[in-house]
Formats: sequence, structure tokens, C-alpha cells
Amino acid sequence: MNIEQIQTHPFPDQRPGTSGLRKKVRVFQQDHYLENFVQSIFDTQPDLRGGTLVLGGDGRYHNREAIQTILRMAAANGIGRVLVGQGGILSTPAASCVIRKYRTQGGIILSASHNPGGPDGDFGIKFNTANGGPAPEKVTEAIYRRTREIDSYRITDDEGIDIDQAGTHTLGETTVEVIDPVRDYAALMRELFDFDAIHQLFNSGLFRMRFDAMHAVTGPYAVEILERILGAEPGTVINGEPKEDFGGGHPDPNLVHAHELVDLTHGFDPVDFGAASDGDGDRNMILGKEFFVTPSDSLAILAANAHRVPGYRNGIVGIARSMPTSQAADRVADALGIDCYETPTGWKFFGNLLDARRITLCGEESFGTGSDHVREKDGLWAVLFWLNLLAILQQPVATIVRDHWRRYGRNYYTRHDYEGVDKAAAEELIQQLRFSLQELPGQEFEGRIVDYADDFAYTDPVDGSVSANQGIRIGFRDGSRIVFRLSGTGTEGATLRVYLEAFEADPSRHDLEPAEVLAPLVRIADRVAGIRHRLGRERADVIT
Ligand code: G1P
Ligand code: ZN
Repeated sequence: MNIEQIQTHPFPDQRPGTSGLRKKVRVFQQDHYLENFVQSIFDTQPDLRGGTLVLGGDGRYHNREAIQTILRMAAANGIGRVLVGQGGILSTPAASCVIRKYRTQGGIILSASHNPGGPDGDFGIKFNTANGGPAPEKVTEAIYRRTREIDSYRITDDEGIDIDQAGTHTLGETTVEVIDPVRDYAALMRELFDFDAIHQLFNSGLFRMRFDAMHAVTGPYAVEILERILGAEPGTVINGEPKEDFGGGHPDPNLVHAHELVDLTHGFDPVDFGAASDGDGDRNMILGKEFFVTPSDSLAILAANAHRVPGYRNGIVGIARSMPTSQAADRVADALGIDCYETPTGWKFFGNLLDARRITLCGEESFGTGSDHVREKDGLWAVLFWLNLLAILQQPVATIVRDHWRRYGRNYYTRHDYEGVDKAAAEELIQQLRFSLQELPGQEFEGRIVDYADDFAYTDPVDGSVSANQGIRIGFRDGSRIVFRLSGTGTEGATLRVYLEAFEADPSRHDLEPAEVLAPLVRIADRVAGIRHRLGRERADVIT
């Protein structure tokens, strides 16, 4: 094996966004593009030299090539050992689990999450630190700074290794262990949940579920855990075969993209429980019979019932939710007498709170829920948590949710996304909102009076770091809220996200259509931000 030092030049666009560096596959296929970013990780993370790196991805197009490149670079950069998922596969939460379990120095995860894959789709790479979580901003910024000055990278000239062959391989001085991507994760789930109770539920003959893996990474995880270990009937997992282009679909578990699953919970002989996960396995959608659980409600319900589940039997110490997530969890935290933190969008902001044991559960409205068991959101974990509750409470999903609303009130919630809009126009819209912040408080819109309006800034209570400009919040005196922010994960133009929330304490008003309840807020959002006029869009592209 020879180590080559390859001359390169910096690319200007390698600043990681909400969740790592995400670009079109074709961008990653440019000579030196991936290599520059990987070398910048190695250059800024000295602990990896002689240490252990975890490596895997969601199996999308370009995953295998990228894995081989990274292995050859790891060998050339003196990484002691690499734990790579067989076939190059590791779901994001499984990667986090493996990083923590084997006390490694970090991991590289190849994924563009829920973005479409294939030659014309998206690809992504992110670095997770030794705690198993997405690198915090100071780390991603250091990597980015390195990408701006890089002039060479190191790579070996050999072929790489057979990543389909489990076991120990060597690449120069580096040991490469090809590991079962499911085993460690499944063992962790068994520690947290009452597998016997769930097994009985599946065997009762009274309960049927479907899990939609959307031809993405959770297929093998779900088949192993749900069907093989927990005894769910064969066929419980649909679209379980991972494909490089996700079968041409959009692996995002929401009502729009997972409609095949949604249909199975409706109509003739619907299933009792439906769930789906995304491209890399960190998101989840929860459905009951003809019933959709919003991710914000799901977080609140898991928090309120956590003591019923073995892994959380001693209670939870705190909750965190991203700022645009509904305030349903805050009400549970109040009742439990624990703290509820409001963080900027993105999982990386939960890491410090989890490490400092200030919180046990956390979640985002964007179909992300998780706990201190790993440092990523975790799709199958949320599904197993729900299954555990269903097994114990012996009630339909809808009953559990309605009971929750009766006790805590209902936070009607929706998100409107305007995708692929003109970037300059979207930035201008946010800028104009910033200018109007001062004059909004006290103004009345459709009978609602603005209580506060600000551009959300977060001071991390653990390390004191400040993250400013995290989204415009407009709060009304009746507890309703509108939030505006631009997506940090898109690869084309800009995406404006508008989050709408209204609180209803009266149980006789808990069965209204969310779209109807929130319609006035949609109108107010357009009025204060001038969405139609500035973006030239009559309505949102995706409503979740
Ligand atoms: C989106 C979600 C955010 C999530 C991220 C990664 O980011 O809104 O909650 O953490 O994907 O899954 P955005 O595109 O809004 O920046
Ligand atoms: Zn994801």
C-alpha cells in the first residue's frame, strides 16, 4: 500500500447546514469534492489518529463509492480502526449507538436523510463526535474553515476492501471491522423496552401494524426487530428492501410521501397501528386507525407516559423541543415539574443538554423524537416506544391521544412548506419580517393580539454558546404562534417553512379539523410576511 498526497483546491461551498454537508450527487462526484471534506474532518479531529472511527450510511446512490474512498483516506491518515456497517449500511441512530457503545472517537455518516436519492438526487456527509451526536457548531465551523484552505489530501492507492464480508480486514496499518449494522442497535432497544409485552401484543391476534421502510435504511432493522424478534406477522414491514434511489420515492415519513401507509390505516379493514421512517432511519411517523399523531403531540405523549416503559421507569429529568415544535411538551413538563428547553432547529442542539443530563427526551416537529439512549433522533425507537405503550395501555392510538388532550389541552399544529422558491426573495421576506418585529406587539389580527415578536436566539445553558437568527417567532396572547424560518437542509433554491400553532383547552373543541382551526393563522402569516406576493406562490407545496 502506498500513501499518495493528492494536490487539490478548496471548494467554496462546504459549510455544513442543519445536518451536515448536503449536495446533489453530481456535486459530490466532482474530483476531490468528498476527499476535501473528509480530509478536513481528519485534520481538525486529531483524536481520530490512532483512534476508532465508525463509518456507514443510508445505502443511497454513491454510498458504496464514498465508503471506499473514506476507508482509503482513513488508512492514509493513520486512523487506528474503522468500524464499518456491512454493505456500507448504518442507520443514523445505529451509528450513534455504535459510536457510544465502543467508546470510539467519532463517526462519519453518509446520508441526505429524507431527500430523494439516485444519480440526480442528493447525497450528504456528516461527522458525529465521540458522544455519538452530530458535531456541534464549533466543530462544523472548524471543519468548514479547513475546507477553505485545504491544498492536499492523503489517500492510499489500493482497491479498498470487500465491505460485504463481515469480519476483520486490514488496510495498511488500519484495522477495518465490518460489523452487523443491526445487532448492537437491536440489543439497545431490548434494554429499553418490554419486548415480552410487545411480543404478546403481536401474538394476541387482535393487533395489526404496518411499518413502511420506504425502501430506505430501516428495512433490515425493522424486519429483524419487528418481525423476527417481536413476532409481528411477515409482511408487517412494507417497502423493506433498501434501494439506492428509494424506489424513486421521497423517503420522508409524512402524510404526503408515505401515502401508501396512510391508506392502510383507512378504509376497509384498516390496521391498528402504522409507522414509517425516513432515508437514514432517524425520523418517524405514527398513525393509528384513521388517526395521525403529530410529532409534537407524540413527544408530549411519550414524555407523559415514559414511566410506564422499562428504560424510563425512574422518570425523566427534563424535555427539550426545537423552537418551532408545538408547546404540547411544555405542558407535560409543567405537570411533571421538570424543565422544558426550547432549542433552535436541528438535533445538534440537544447534545449538550443530554450529555449534561438536563433532559431525557427531546423532539422536533419534523418527525424527530429521541432520548438519551443515543445522540440522534431515532425512528424505530419511537415506534417501539409507542408499541410498548399500546401493549401496556391496551387502547387504540386515538384514545391515548384524546385522553392526553383532555388532560393537557390540544395544540393544533401544522407546517406549511414553500419549496424551491427564489432564494433572494425568501431571504428578503425574512429580512422584512425582522424589520417589522418592533411594531408587531400589540397589533391585532383577526381578533388575535400579538404578544411578542422576535428573531429567536439561543444561549446554550451548558457551554454558553449563542446561536442567533434561528427563526422569526410571533406569539399571540391566546397562546397561538406563527414561526417563519428558511430550511438549512435543501439543495436547490430556498424553502420557506411556516409553522402554525393554536391552543385549545376545551375538550368539546378537540375534534375540529386542524386546517380549519389554523386557517386564520395561515391568513395572518401571509399578511405579515407577504408570502404570496413575495414568493409568487398561492399555497404551500407540502403541508404536514
Ligand atoms: C429539517 C427539519 C429539522 C431537522 C433537519 C434534519 O431541517 O426542519 O427539524 O433537524 O431537517 O432532519 P431544515 O430543512 O428545516 O433546516
Ligand atoms: Zn433523517
